[in-house]
Amino acid sequence: MVQISESFTAIDDDVIDGLDQWRTLPIKQQPAWSDPAALEAASAELATLPPLVFAGEVDTLRRRLALAAEGRAFLLQGGDCAETFAGATADQIRDRVKTILQMAVVLTYGASMPVIKMGRMAGQFAKPRSSDTETRGDVTLPAYRGDIVNGYDFTPESRQADPARLVKGYHTSASTINLIRAFTQGGFADLRQVHSWNKGFAANPANAQYEHLAREIDKAIRFMEAAGADFDELKRVEFYTSHEGLLMDYERPLTRIDSRTGDPYVLSSHFVWIGERTRDLDGAHVDFLSRVRNPIGVKLGPSTSPDDMLRLIDKLDPEREPGRLTFITRMGAGTIRDALPPLLEAIKGADATPLWVSDPMHGNGMTTPTGYKTRRFEEIMDEVKGFFEAHRAAGTHPGGIHIELTGDDVTECLGGSEHIDEATLATRYESLCDPRLNHMQSLELAFLVAEELAAD
Ligand code: PEP
Ligand code: CO
Repeated sequence: MVQISESFTAIDDDVIDGLDQWRTLPIKQQPAWSDPAALEAASAELATLPPLVFAGEVDTLRRRLALAAEGRAFLLQGGDCAETFAGATADQIRDRVKTILQMAVVLTYGASMPVIKMGRMAGQFAKPRSSDTETRGDVTLPAYRGDIVNGYDFTPESRQADPARLVKGYHTSASTINLIRAFTQGGFADLRQVHSWNKGFAANPANAQYEHLAREIDKAIRFMEAAGADFDELKRVEFYTSHEGLLMDYERPLTRIDSRTGDPYVLSSHFVWIGERTRDLDGAHVDFLSRVRNPIGVKLGPSTSPDDMLRLIDKLDPEREPGRLTFITRMGAGTIRDALPPLLEAIKGADATPLWVSDPMHGNGMTTPTGYKTRRFEEIMDEVKGFFEAHRAAGTHPGGIHIELTGDDVTECLGGSEHIDEATLATRYESLCDPRLNHMQSLELAFLVAEELAAD
């Protein structure tokens, strides 16, 4: 049976039924909402609110990612491990966008190819957890699952999953994406502003290197302008949003049928990925995201077998559509050189060209004796290097990086040119979840990745 929507596009009932198939499948990492009526009200409200992105933008992104999969572009995906409602301020959003723009300039220059800029922003609010509960002393409470589910404060009230947070998550995402669009369309991201994004002391090696690069870019732009080139194109940049597609009570109501084509899209962001803990082939997340048109990422940890990977391709990209599927590998610095090559060999024998992206963060976690969750900058870099080495050896394309970062001067990851050590971690540790690279470490990483790309 086919019904006709207001915009005269046929909506296929089978498509809608399919979108709800996940409800019958095993599902992981969902909160225990305590008030079913409140959940229903929040879902109904989300379902009537406007989408946060336009399906046409999602299609453009898919085409851009297809280029990256072929080695003709590079994806830079970065942002907080977990965004917070309190952190959605103008200054923090601006500084994260700036950091990503600076990294993109460095990478574009090093790679001499387009860099697709994508934030873990405007929706990265829900977190998978290793345990459903957290115990402090003799008190056990539900684990913090991100601001879109419950509060971080360790009290029974705060830790209760509250459906009103779903709606607040939507509005916070809306104001975040609004500011991102203003910055990236309104002149702030104009390449002629390349100097003004820099901050901090030129004495820092990464800053000094950036200043040098910015001067070269300025010179090139002035030369081309003098030669009569029209640089209006430089004024706007494409910037895409992404988050882990984890919380079904948020993603399902924000999934809409595109009036142009009748196809379903998750319109909470341009790109969504499936996490390492929820990528079961027969589980709810893989089924749901197999049915939408967005480009989809899947995290692949060190235990991924070639067979798992090939079955994920069959399920998520049966048509082998360019740009549809991204594999985000997060193997660990000590493991990537063993765990990635078998996957790359297997892909060469398959009829698929997924985009390969390195997440050098999630396989390199550690806890200090003083109890801080951290990561070593050297290990993060080493995993990126291992990623490039494996692709070079296999003849496949290293197509992007996926980084947890902030534009702020936090002290969450060890090392880098500022030599953050264990004693320094306490001075400015702000993440509620995983440790992020700070502004300077992010820039340093971009220079190191640019070297790898230039060597390719
Ligand atoms: C994340 O990206 O924040 C995350 C939880 O990653 P993974 O699923 O790879 O553990
Ligand atoms: Co994380």
